[in-house]
This record gives sequence, structure tokens and C-alpha cells, in this order.
Amino acid sequence: MGDLRITPLEGKTFGATVTGVELRTLSSEEFAAIRAAFLEYGMLVFPGQHLDEAASADFGRLWGELEFGGQALANQRKHKDGSYGEIYDIESQLMRTNVGNEIWHTDSTYKPLSSKCAMLSAVIVVEEGGQTEFADQRAAYAGLDEATKKRIAVLSAYHSTNYSQANDIGDFPQSNGEGVYGTVYHGEAYLRPLVKIHPETGIPNLFVGRHAFGIPGLPRDESRALLKSLIDFVVSDERRVYRQEWTPGDTVFWDNRFVLHRARPYDYSKPRYMIGTRVAGDPATELAYYPEDPRAEAGREALAAELEILRNEVKDRRYGATTAAR
Ligand SMILES: [Fe+2]
Repeated sequence: MGDLRITPLEGKTFGATVTGVELRTLSSEEFAAIRAAFLEYGMLVFPGQHLDEAASADFGRLWGELEFGGQALANQRKHKDGSYGEIYDIESQLMRTNVGNEIWHTDSTYKPLSSKCAMLSAVIVVEEGGQTEFADQRAAYAGLDEATKKRIAVLSAYHSTNYSQANDIGDFPQSNGEGVYGTVYHGEAYLRPLVKIHPETGIPNLFVGRHAFGIPGLPRDESRALLKSLIDFVVSDERRVYRQEWTPGDTVFWDNRFVLHRARPYDYSKPRYMIGTRVAGDPATELAYYPEDPRAEAGREALAAELEILRNEVKDRRYGATTAAR
């Protein structure tokens, strides 16, 4: 092997920096070392890779089936000739979705199949803000008291982006949208255990985040309080939280099965351009159920009831219980 170096993040329970390797031209030995580091550290920072859309998707494909590959996760349009254009309006659904992702989450828990892992590569970064933060739900689970572990062992929560957008920022996206929104704001809610046994390491971790609501068997206020307390606990110890200050060319790759993340705010009138790739989970371990499954009806009903309540509760939040005009 060449000069590949894996350096654990100092003072953190997770994460490592990987240098001395080109993600575009990995040898099988290098990939094996990165895969082992991914399972051990959960989040890998690769400085100076300068991946484009195709290279981002290619790296993603090494890990499994893509949800999407080499997609712009940006606040501005990129033209076919490679030049950058219009910055999106903060009222648009695209920007509402970006703003929603400033709250802790793991990707695609609101889909039948939640995500295995994902990556971000920085192209255009802002000078202030716009970082991405990560948090370790594996170390958090290990740090819970026994009574809490026992209490949550049998509990699950529904996951929905219609819920999280409404609850976090007062946004009520149209559920019948086209394209990416059709697959994101669909009116379904998927039931997932609060404790996930990691399918590759066998280590249990918390599995919570902004999309989770409505723990069956608990009154609404208790469910909300418990879910909030668990997320608060994860991020209450700075050893479990890492902030990526982006430099163009950086790539960060993480395990969505135990690592939470969130974007940080910035001046949305300034261009910020990231390339994202997301890998689907394994149906054996990341599938809740499909919409046609009879179990889906309970989630649909729980979500509809929750949104009804939120309509009145979130008028003071960022988007004031409105729907984007476009
Ligand atoms: Fe995300």
C-alpha cells in the first residue's frame, strides 16, 4: 500500500482523517483499509480530493446501490456548461429543505429503505457558517444509564420529512410534488426502533433525529420529550460531536446507520455548492416496509394526526405553517 494514513480525530469518540490516497483511483488494498476505518470510526474526512459529480458517484458505488450519485446539494443552479447561476430563493421548497437539514438527522429514515452511508464534497464554500456537524449515536448509546437503555429497548418511532419540516421550521411541503420532492414529502411515516443494532459491527446505537416522532404506546408529550432528550444527550458531550469546516476539495464520508449530521446556517445569499452521493441501506437491515404493506396505514394515520396538531403549533416557526409557492 502507498502512503495511506488514517488518523483518528483528537479527543473524539468517532471520526478519522484519511490522507495519502486518491479516492478516484483506489487500489483494492486501499479500499479494504478505508472500509475497515469506516466501520471503526463511522465518519472519514478526506481533504483535498476535489471530486466532481462523476467521481463522487463512482466512489459511492463501491458501497452499494445509490439513492443518488453526484447530485448538487447547493443553493444555486449549475449550468450544463459548468458555470454557476441563480441563487435559490429562501422561500423555495429546495431552500426550505436545505434549512430543515440544519437540524440533526440521519438520511432517508423517512423512506422505506433508510440510507447506509453518504458523502459530501465541497466545491464552493462560504466564509462564515455553512459547516457540517456530525454526532456519534454509538458512543451515546454506550453512555446511557441502564434504566434508559431498558426503557427504549422496546420502543420505536415513526420517521417522516413531512413531520420534521413542519415541526422544525413550520414548512408544510406539498406531498404530491414531482422529482426529488415526490420521493421525500410523500405522506408516509416509517416505523424504526430507537435502538439500532449495527448490521456490520453488531454494536447497538441510538437511532433518532429530526424525522422521528410518535412513539407508539406513549402519549404525545412523553414521546416528544423522550425523543428530544435522546438527541440532546447525544450532542451533550463534545467528544461525540465533530464540526467540519469546509475547504474546497474536501470530501466527508459517513455511516448513516449510526452517525447524525446537520448543516449549519450561513448567509443564504452567498453561493455554496456541495456534491452529494447517498448509498441505500441493505433491505435485510434498513427496510421498514413499503407503502403497500398493511403496516404502512398506521404510520400514515399517525402522521396525518400529528400534522393536524402541528398546523396550529408551528405558526411562529420560520415558515409560519406555510407551503412553498414553487
Ligand atoms: Fe442529510
